[in-house]
Amino acid sequence: MRKNIVAGNWKMNKNLQEGVAFAKELEAALAGKELKCDVVIGTPFIHLASIASSTKLGVAAQNCADKASGAYTGEISAAMVASTGAKYVILGHSERRTYYGETDAILKEKVLLALANGLTPIFCIGETKEEREKNIHFDVVKTQVEKALFDLSAEDFAKIVIAYEPVWAIGTGLTATSEQAQEMHAYIRKTIAAKYNNEVADNTSILYGGSANGGNAKELFACPDIDGGLIGGASLDVEKFIPVIEGF
Ligand code: PGA
Repeated sequence: MRKNIVAGNWKMNKNLQEGVAFAKELEAALAGKELKCDVVIGTPFIHLASIASSTKLGVAAQNCADKASGAYTGEISAAMVASTGAKYVILGHSERRTYYGETDAILKEKVLLALANGLTPIFCIGETKEEREKNIHFDVVKTQVEKALFDLSAEDFAKIVIAYEPVWAIGTGLTATSEQAQEMHAYIRKTIAAKYNNEVADNTSILYGGSANGGNAKELFACPDIDGGLIGGASLDVEKFIPVIEGF
């Protein structure tokens, strides 16, 4: 059966010392609690090795290169991420798509490299406000999944975690209602079932992201097709992150 996952996404926040201290504090605060989900923190690249080696928390990079190696100044490959001990990589975040021009074709390459290096992609999809207003949000999300992921074999697709993050809800304080989120998650699962089969769809963890926090996590995570969250703002403080984790 699919896993419940609560993953933090720090984005470009916390220097190395702050990040390492946070991870230790979080691990200590979670010790002895009976968790009903896996906990992952998505850190900047420079934190990965330190946190992966000093805690048992799941660790995610927030990106990786679309090339395996070579003359790509400033890039970090999937193999490098894997060598830090990180097990996950967030790919296709709307901030990467919008500010860094990441297309479905580029993301497809990143997914293949992540999988080839044993990383679990947390693959982000989601529509903008305009797309929802035009009532094309289902098509947008379907196209994102199809173009970047649907050439994978069923065996490889089974290694993917999806994060549905409506762009209008990210960092805005506007959360999708649990009905809106559940409706889209069920649609994504149905789309996966139609491409692969029910077993693959049932086993895929689909996380919700977009202003999820300790106040709304319980209601969101109670929905049958919501298997956790990708959490930005509320993952930056241990006191705010724990109530999200305890939403399960
Ligand atoms: P948010 O960010 O929780 O601050 O809205 C979520 C994300 O971008 O992953």
